[in-house]
Amino acid sequence: MKILVTGGTGYIGSHTVVELQQQGFEVVIVDNLSNSQVSVIDSIEKITGKRPHFEEFDLVDYVKTLDFFSRHSDLKGVIHFAAFKAVGESVEKPLVYYRNNLVSLMNILEAMISSKVENLVFSSSCTVYGQPDVLPVSEKAPIKKAESPYGNTKQISEEIIQDTLKSSHLKAIALRYFNPIGAHESALIGELPLGVPNNLVPFITQTAIGLRKQLSVFGDDYNTPDGTAVRDYIHVVDLAQAHVVAVKRMIEAKMKHNFEIFNLGTGNGYSVLEVIKSFEKVAGMPLNYQIVSRRAGDVEQVWADPSWSNNELGWKAQKSLDEMNASAWKWEKAYRSQH
Ligand code: NAD
Ligand code: UD1
Repeated sequence: MKILVTGGTGYIGSHTVVELQQQGFEVVIVDNLSNSQVSVIDSIEKITGKRPHFEEFDLVDYVKTLDFFSRHSDLKGVIHFAAFKAVGESVEKPLVYYRNNLVSLMNILEAMISSKVENLVFSSSCTVYGQPDVLPVSEKAPIKKAESPYGNTKQISEEIIQDTLKSSHLKAIALRYFNPIGAHESALIGELPLGVPNNLVPFITQTAIGLRKQLSVFGDDYNTPDGTAVRDYIHVVDLAQAHVVAVKRMIEAKMKHNFEIFNLGTGNGYSVLEVIKSFEKVAGMPLNYQIVSRRAGDVEQVWADPSWSNNELGWKAQKSLDEMNASAWKWEKAYRSQH
């Protein structure tokens, strides 16, 4: 059972490779290392005892992508993580985002068709819902106009996939992630943002370890219980496990339609201040933070209705917010002690 994991040395990809290998899948990773390090392969081997096959190239390269698939036509499926994901950067460099995220997807779809590989799992995002009118948000909620080119690449990607399925043998599952945080319990893999982190939890752990002076909390005047914005944080290992379930669903022909969408969230919304309190508790130290004004483009509150995923996939996120923060903190300390 050979699976291609694009972006497999990245944050979510590496955790998914571990879960796949632990469940007996053979994994081939393609990554151009634009936002990850090759040493992740060693860490995956340390955790699982198996070294995934790794090829370094850019999936925007049509010839290389087709050549790869012609050499691996025995693939049972593809999990496509490879993409750029920094929302702010996508506003500055929209064409870089459209090219990287859309051309790579189109190349993969063409290569899958020509090499007769059937099953695709695609990394989508809750960003497609914008600020939903109804909470919790289910997969049936309308797609809102994207706030950023990054968000738009996820919406367009879902459309490209759906259109392609209409005229081919392909099947696809789009997984809409809410806010993945945390790290593997081994603390051998985790999130490694380049430069100053944009996301909340890496900023918290880097502040706690002394790399950043102070966390800015973006806004305390939202219409939420404590005034700070609310998100559905999900442990990256729970998220990774859902990918294994999705791949099996496709291979075992359990899909109800040739395109399916699932929310990957816990169903619980936590405010920024609740995340900070949980971190302070598990780390046993106070965090230096201050309230500043809202960040442009942020939605007020969003959390998932995961009932369709829970019922159809038989998957449910297990880990608590404290466990997420504890694992993120363990990873930050382990990584900094060696770098
Ligand atoms: P990441 O940056 O850690 O991993 C992405 C990997 O893809 C990196 O290793 C990068 O080097 C690689 N890559 C990028 N473009 C490539 C290309 N053209 N060819 C080959 N490799 C390429 O990001 P992540 O957090 O693991 O996210 C994985 C996927 O999940 C992305 O599609 C992202 O948009 C999506 N997603 C992430 C989040 C999140 O909060 N992390 C939320 C929703 C959706
Ligand atoms: C963002 C993206 C989302 C993307 C996800 C993964 C936006 C609007 N959304 O989600 O599309 O899929 O990242 O890359 O950018 N916060 C602070 N201080 C900080 C950092 C964050 O208060 O230093 C707050 C934010 O205002 C937000 C919450 O923490 O309320 C979570 O922020 P973040 O981790 O950046 O994720 P999202 O913005 O939800």
